[in-house]
Amino acid sequence: MTQTTFTTSFGDTITLDGQYRQWVGKPVRADSPTHLYEVQYAKAAPPLGLGAFSYKHYEACMIYDALRRAGIGLDFQSMLDIGSGFAAMPRITWVRNYARDVTALDLFPYGVTALSNALVRRRLTEIALAQRSGLRNLRGPMGKWEWVVSRENFALPPVSSSGRFDYQVANVYELEGQFDWINSSLTLTHFNHADLFAKIASLLGDGGVFTFTVECWWYPVNSTQITGAAPWLCQRLTRDDLLRYFRECEPEVDGDHVAAVYDYYADPAHPTASDYVATAVANDLHPVIVERHMNARSWSKRASLAPPWLKRETGQGALEALENIRRFKPGVIVEDLYTSHYLLGFRKVARGNS
Ligand SMILES: C[S@@+](CC[C@H](N)C(=O)[O-])C[C@H]1O[C@@H](n2cnc3c(N)ncnc32)[C@H](O)[C@@H]1O
Repeated sequence: MTQTTFTTSFGDTITLDGQYRQWVGKPVRADSPTHLYEVQYAKAAPPLGLGAFSYKHYEACMIYDALRRAGIGLDFQSMLDIGSGFAAMPRITWVRNYARDVTALDLFPYGVTALSNALVRRRLTEIALAQRSGLRNLRGPMGKWEWVVSRENFALPPVSSSGRFDYQVANVYELEGQFDWINSSLTLTHFNHADLFAKIASLLGDGGVFTFTVECWWYPVNSTQITGAAPWLCQRLTRDDLLRYFRECEPEVDGDHVAAVYDYYADPAHPTASDYVATAVANDLHPVIVERHMNARSWSKRASLAPPWLKRETGQGALEALENIRRFKPGVIVEDLYTSHYLLGFRKVARGNS
């Protein structure tokens, strides 16, 4: 790195910090972001171990708890999970009888080999035993979700499911049908959310519920994991400025690879919670849950790059980054820069015929 500052196309000067660059590690992951899912697991995934299952269990429980807090009972007739991956969430939902008929859907069949409903029952029993033995929670993603998940989730699950479980290898845009709960966990970064929400509205019956968790683009390290020599560099620059930054300041980095990783996260709007809500409302999906997840502790590498520690370690804070971001996306608010994930929920209220 030769330069000590970078000037954006809006004329803002960003101070570069060689130490931060060292600290944060690689500018972009070497494998493609498609590696894990589309390449590594294209045909089959190995059975999910207890640690990885426990991680997915926390994610599912956050959604169950949010629904309970919103006064929405977990007694659905039909549930669809979009982009299920290993299908832990839809399988737990079915095994616990939170929905009678459950459809897990993914472009690839990972969830067929990674888990079976019998293995889910075994894993839930193992988790419940670990809890009862006084062992601390097995694993909370980024060391924090464990604190927001209610203890009651760890009780042994009911054993009889009355309905049907179905894993479909398909593209959601080809799916037809009607569901009363649609969920999508950590998948929306793969979609243009405006297109997806229109499709979801067409698959939901009147009164149906749509929930999702999604990584927030504006967190210091987002799904792209692209980093520069200043906090939030990927977020505080437009795509063109980011590619120019690498050409001018880190020319050894392969710009085409950076562009490919950046563009893989297909939603060019880089939505905030307000953007998701506005698009949902335009599709007759009205908000019932709007939650933000923020790191309370410095725990993992990604968590240690959360704003409080960034400010302490680098002197650069969220407000400076926000000033740059607002030049091209004025709707971003300071909370977005502290939010690692959003958890949102909507209820469909169909329009009258008048
Ligand atoms: C990051 S994974 C999330 C997996 C899972 N929900 C979880 O929480 O572990 C995203 C998944 O979305 C799937 N996906 C992407 N586009 C899709 C589409 N158009 N239809 C169905 N699944 C899709 C991918 O194949 C991938 O398995």
